[in-house]
Parts: sequence; C-alpha cells; structure tokens
Amino acid sequence: MIVPIYSKRYLAKTISEVQASIYARKTVKIRGWVAKKRTLKGKIFLLIRDSTGVIQCVIAPADKSWSEATSITTESSCMIQGKIVRDRRALGGYELQISTLEIIGLAETWPIARDTSPDFLRGIRHLSLRREREQAIMKIRSGVIGGFHEYFRSRGYFEHQSPCFTPTPGESGAETFELKYFGKKVYLTQTWQLYAEMMIPVLENIYTVAPTFRADKSMTSRHLTEFWMAEVETAWQEFPELLETMEGVVRFICKKVAREYRAELTLLGKDWKYFATLPKFQRITYREAIVELRKSGFNTKFGDDLGIKEEKFLVNKRKIPIFITHYPTKLKAFYMKRDPDDPEQVLAADLMIPGIGELIGSSERSLDFKDVKKRLKLSKEDPKKYEFYFDLSRYGKVPHSGFGLGIERLVMWLTGADSVKDCIAFPRTPTRINP
Ligand code: 4AD
Ligand code: MG
Repeated sequence: MIVPIYSKRYLAKTISEVQASIYARKTVKIRGWVAKKRTLKGKIFLLIRDSTGVIQCVIAPADKSWSEATSITTESSCMIQGKIVRDRRALGGYELQISTLEIIGLAETWPIARDTSPDFLRGIRHLSLRREREQAIMKIRSGVIGGFHEYFRSRGYFEHQSPCFTPTPGESGAETFELKYFGKKVYLTQTWQLYAEMMIPVLENIYTVAPTFRADKSMTSRHLTEFWMAEVETAWQEFPELLETMEGVVRFICKKVAREYRAELTLLGKDWKYFATLPKFQRITYREAIVELRKSGFNTKFGDDLGIKEEKFLVNKRKIPIFITHYPTKLKAFYMKRDPDDPEQVLAADLMIPGIGELIGSSERSLDFKDVKKRLKLSKEDPKKYEFYFDLSRYGKVPHSGFGLGIERLVMWLTGADSVKDCIAFPRTPTRINP
C-alpha cells in the first residue's frame, strides 16, 4: 500500500491557516516555494509562499536542517516543520522557526532577477505568473468568473455551451479566424449568441463563460485574439430589464471581489471600498454622447462609431460605469431590435468602465427576420447560411435580450492592470502565441 506523504490530511496546513492566533507556539507543517532567501546576522530567512499566503521562516546554524537551508534556492519547493511565533515585524504577523526543512524540488538559478520589463516578463509568463502581483490578479480573475456563475445560477439560469467551430461569423465577418475543416471553411466562435438564441425555447434563461476568438489586429491594451466572454440570454426580457440585469451582475461581482479579495486589491494598490459601494450606473443615449463630445472639442458626428478615446472621455469624467444606449442601427449588429419610436436606432447598450471603455455589448433581439435578412446582406453576409437562425422566428418566437461581457476587461478594471494581457494567464495577441 502506498502511504501518501504529501497530502494535507497527513501533514501540512496552508500558510494562511497557520497565520492565526490558535497556532501561536504550536508546531506545524507547511509546504510551498521559496519566494526569497536572505542571510542576516548569521541566520537564514526564507520567505515561503503557497497559493494562500506568504510566511517568513527562520533557521540558525545550530539547527538540524541548516545544511538544507544553505543549499536551498529561490523557487525551490519544500516542506517545513517548525514552531509558529508571533512577530509583529514579520509579514502576516507570524514567523515560523524551522526545525526540519525538506527540499522537494531544488530549483535552478531563477531567471527573473534584474530585468522586470513587461516584455521580458511576458516572454517567460509561465514563470513570471508566480510573482505576487500576477498571482493576485489570477485570484481576482477566478473570483470574477465565480461571481458570474453564482449570480446567474442563484437566479435559476442554466449554463449552456455553444460550439467553438461555427459555419458563420456570429458578429462581424472582418474579425473571424477561418480554418480548414475537412475540406470546408469554418470559423472560430466570436460569440455564443446565435446558438444561445436557439436555446431560448429549450432553457429560457441561460449563461456561459467561454473562450472567444477575434482576428482583431488592433494592438491595444484592451484587445486579445483569444479572450473569455461571459454571455447571457434571457427569454421574455425587454430592454429596460436587460439594463437592470447587467448592472446587477457587475455590481455583484465588484462587491464580491471587494469582500473576498481585499488583501489582493490592497497589494495591487486598489481601493476596495470604491468597488464595494459603487453608486447607481449612469445612462446616456448615443445622441447625448455625441452632443457632449462635440461640446468638449471632439469632431465626432452623428453616425460615427465611438472609439477608445471617446469612450474613455465619457466614462472617465464620471468615474463610475455608464451605459450608452440607442446607437444608430447602421453601427450595430444585424440581430439587434430597432427602437419602435425611431427605427434608425437600436435597443442596444454598451456599458463603459473607467480607464478602459467598453466592458459589455448588449441588446434586445430583433424578431423581424425580414429586416434581419436585409441587414445581413448590408453587412455582406449571405443570409442563406443563417437559415437555422431564422427557424427561431418560424417556430414560436418570443421577445428576448442578451449581452456579452469581456472577462479580462473587468479584471483589468478591478486590479488596475496596465493591459488585458496581464489579466489572463497565457495571453494571445497577433504577435504573441508563446509560451
Ligand atoms: O460587443 P461584443 O462584440 O458583443 C458580442 O459579441 C455580443 N454578441 C455579445 C452578446 O450579446 N451575447 O463583445 C462583448 C464584449 C466587449 O464589450 C468587450 O468587453 C469584449 O467582449 N471584447 C474583447 N475583449 C478582449 N479582446 C477583444 N478582442 C474583445 N472584443 C470584445
Ligand atoms: Mg461591442
């Protein structure tokens, strides 16, 4: 029989567990990696980290494991047994006095030393992810995705998955990845949406969090070629209710992260209180946005798309998220419902967040499939390829609405990261496919 020696049941506690008063003066075992090693006044100090925290461990020359301590290197993995003592000067308030140190994996010379430029760190992302900032961002990302699931599952939504190989572009033909598929041309999904709409008569209220692909050449701090989109589609839902749903989930995630990731936000220099107490999101129409932009010296005309500059200007001055609603029909996708009061605009809303701009794209969906066909043709798509989609109107159509939220953009806002590239473990851009 194999007796497990590494499993928690037999041995170790997590680092955050042992940093509690009940362990003071008790002997514990922990395991982790050497974040830093230094020698001071003849003693060796090891900063040991695991996924839950960091603790200072100390050893003196007379101690049993002194020779292991002298040979251990940065990023080696180890198991340590020792006594926990209160030490206000130490990070986390406790220190571990080492009685035994066992090296599990002795690390070679750690390549991250002086060069900490973003480009170098992204080139060795598989290693630089171990740094404390990167680790904090990855934890918050997990919290954001968890929050999305929590919000919709607790409201009776089902989780639905659409395929990644698709016969048609879902959003805009210009930004698709085409690939060979047994002699046919197919696309990588740009959105789960068209298939999600087919699921409305099956599950009614659905959501997903899934990888999404856009062959977008723009090398900005908010674009990836592979990103994660959280999408929702709700049966019987009309435009005003859609706005409430989007605000509800963003507010829920911000509050959750503020509550559960306070230490990580603080480490990243972010104010958790801001996210815990967001005021009601503002709403302005596209038309109002144009007037405001022109008054402030922008050249934007009615009918122009809003770029990053315009979006950031409108949201940054308000310092809280804003919805821009009722965009011109010509600017938006074929599936959006025309406003009955003014068919030249659609019942669509983009949610903007400070410092970034667009976080969400959304609309009530059109049920006028003659018009949808016309608009597909205008965007140079072949309506014949969308026959499956038109069946939605042939067999029991109902009003419905939906939206898509860019996970990395939300993580970027919450963490203050410089780019969405820092908000996904292994970013994909037009110029980066490694590691
Ligand atoms: O506005 P988009 O294109 O909306 C849709 O795809 C809809 N079909 C969604 C739906 O209604 N179900 O994309 C939604 C969001 C954007 O607001 C943005 O946050 C993010 O996806 N996004 C990107 N994030 C990173 N890199 C890119 N290249 C992105 N393109 C869009
Ligand atoms: Mg959009």
